[in-house]
Parts: sequence; structure tokens; C-alpha cells
Amino acid sequence: MVTREATWAYRDDHDEFARTFFRRFGAGVVSSIGVGTYLGDPTDERDAAYREAITRALESGVNVVDTAINYRHQRSERVVGDAVADAAVDRDAVLVATKGGFVPFDGDRPENPGAFVRDEYVDTGLVDRADLVGGQHCIAPAFVDDQVDRSLSNLGLETIDLYYVHNPETQLAERSREAVYDQLEATFERLEHRASDGDIAHYGVATWDAFRVPADHERYLSLPEVVERARSAAASAGNSATHLRAIQCPFNVFMADAFTVASHQGPDGPQSALWFAHEAGLDVFTSASIMQGRLAREMPEAVEAKLDGETRAQRAINFARSAPGVTSSLVGMGTPDHVAENVDAGRYEPLGANAFDAVFE
Ligand SMILES: NC(=O)c1ccc[n+]([C@@H]2O[C@H](COP(=O)([O-])OP(=O)(O)OC[C@H]3O[C@@H](n4cnc5c(N)ncnc54)[C@H](OP(=O)(O)O)[C@@H]3O)[C@@H](O)[C@H]2O)c1
Repeated sequence: MVTREATWAYRDDHDEFARTFFRRFGAGVVSSIGVGTYLGDPTDERDAAYREAITRALESGVNVVDTAINYRHQRSERVVGDAVADAAVDRDAVLVATKGGFVPFDGDRPENPGAFVRDEYVDTGLVDRADLVGGQHCIAPAFVDDQVDRSLSNLGLETIDLYYVHNPETQLAERSREAVYDQLEATFERLEHRASDGDIAHYGVATWDAFRVPADHERYLSLPEVVERARSAAASAGNSATHLRAIQCPFNVFMADAFTVASHQGPDGPQSALWFAHEAGLDVFTSASIMQGRLAREMPEAVEAKLDGETRAQRAINFARSAPGVTSSLVGMGTPDHVAENVDAGRYEPLGANAFDAVFE
């Protein structure tokens, strides 16, 4: 499990970065650039490249790894486990995050996905068909409980540092918002117990739309309500404080709504997701930080001119990690050369608060 001592020692071993490269995560510190593992074909070749890339990232100053059980049909979780074990880095210096919510296939896409989900999850009683949205998404407590076990096994870890409920807004396609909050609370309670048992250290909510869209959007979820539900879940589980620790949402030059859209009711009025999360003491991890590769190719000139970095990808990464309240910007890197380029973005200072605000004027 990621610890204060190991992460501070890791930081001391990597003093080549700019001042704010490492940031507080609880009592420890983590790199403000993290490795993501979403994209790529489910092949052995891609597994080998990811394994090399993640190992290299861990050994070069990046101690945040993000995955999910469904990414590349569980292959990404398994290579993360291999890389964490292989790398010449103390496991307790690495924040390993994963997610559960999308029913995962196993290694490859089955010929008949519906039959796979039925045989593996519905007929075995792990998923109640009524909880399944779009035939592939479930956030019910029993299912998430089972997914935590599978992720622990795929990752080969005793403790998952951060376990996200994955894209809960997917449920809004077939259920009311209130029903989604109720189910989140029940699942949070289960995760509070898993935290007490030491299987996870913290949990969070990873989203694509929920926290960055306006409050009247069909895929909106209220961050204050989610925080409130986590507090209730902790109380029901007999925990004195909630283990809800983080959110994840997309943030990049083209998708800055988590900073610009004020859709979460704070004590003095509506706040952006980034601002509300910051004031609630939640860490924010940005996804799609270079817009799934697009920002390595194109960026508005006026924005790019304000950013430091040798390459466009580095400048894009530095934009994402400049946003106030961001702990770490996740960048999918399954190629060792991309790791070398992206890690070097951390040698440049991100924008200060005023310079960041000025981008939006
Ligand atoms: N809802 C959610 O929970 C959610 C959604 C999306 C993403 N995520 C997480 O956030 C992570 C980051 O998002 P993402 O992977 O979707 O998008 P991203 O980080 O914006 O972009 C990743 C893509 O950019 C390429 N790339 C990386 N460095 C590059 C460079 N220097 N030059 C050119 N291309 C480069 C990668 O190729 P290579 O792989 O070949 O290096 C990959 O195709 C994910 O991996 C995942 O862990 C979470």
C-alpha cells in the first residue's frame, strides 16, 4: 500500500523535476503525471509494450498508475501488476488505482458477449439483471465487491490504493438520479468495509460526463450529493471518516469544463467540479489529458504560446496539470518513447494560478 515514508523517499530519488511536480496525496506525495492504460488492442504485443512502458515510467519518476478491470479485457490490470512487481521501485511508493463498473471480458472479446455476461455474472448470481444497464454496466454492491477481488488478483496486490466506481452516470440511461445515488451509497458502504479490511486504501468516483456537465444535463451527477452519500455510507459502516478520497474526470485544452462549468452547489453558490473537489478535500485525477493523442498533433496557438515544454504533448500535459486542484494528470502511454517524452514534461513548471486563469480570458 502506498505509504508516506516510501513516497517521500521516492521523491528524494527523483529530484530532477520542477518544483511542483510531486504533490501531496494524504500524508504522502505523488507525481503530477500518471500513467493511464485505457487505449490499445487486447494483444500480447500491446501487453509487452505496456509492461515496458509502465516499468520505465515507474523507474523515471512517475508513481501514479491508473487502470480499470475492463481496460483491454483485463489485460491492462494484469500488465500493471507485472510492471509494479518488475520495476526497481518500492511497491509502497506507487499509487495504484483501478475501477469497477463495466462488466469485463477476460483477455479477449468473446464471440457472444451477451452469453458471456449471462453465464459469468447473471446466472452465477453476481449481477441482478435489473441492475445491468446497456447489458454491460453495473454498480451494485455485490458486483463491485466481486470486482474488487478480481482486481486484487489481476494486480497481484494485497491492497488497491484507490478504487473507483467507474462512470456511474452510465446508469442514468435507465434509472432515476435518486436511484443512482441510492445505489452509490450502498456500494460506498461496501467499499468502506473493504477499506476497513485493508483490501482498498481509499475509493473514488471516475466519470466521463457526470461532474463536468451543467446541472440540467441528463448525465449530470452532483458532487456534493456524492460526498454526502459517502459520509452516510461511512457512518453506516461504523467508520469515523469516509474513505472517499478522489474523483477522476477528463480535463485538457479542448475539454476544460471541469474548470469552467459551475454546476456543484457549494456553501456560497455553484462551483466547478475542480473547485468543489478541492474545498471538499478530494484529490482530482484528470483523464484524457492530451485528448487521446489529438493534442500531440494540434492545439490552439494562443494557448500553446503560454505553455512550457519542448514538444506539443509536453505542453498539453503541462496545461492539464496546471489546473487548480489537480493532483495528477493521467496520460495513456503504452509506448516507451512516449513515456520518455511525457515524463520530461515534469521538468517544466506548470502555469501559475493567474497565468492559468488568463488562458480563459
Ligand atoms: N471515465 C474514465 O474513468 C476514464 C476515461 C478515459 C481515460 N481514463 C484514464 O485516463 C487515462 C488517460 O486518458 P486516455 O488514455 O484516454 O487519453 P490520453 O492520455 O489523452 O491519450 C492517450 C493516447 O495518446 C498517445 N500518446 C501518449 N503520449 C504521446 C506523445 N508524447 N505523443 C503522441 N501521442 C502520445 C497514446 O499512445 P500510446 O499508448 O501508443 O503511448 C494514447 O493513444 C487513461 O489511460 C485511463 O487510465 C479514465
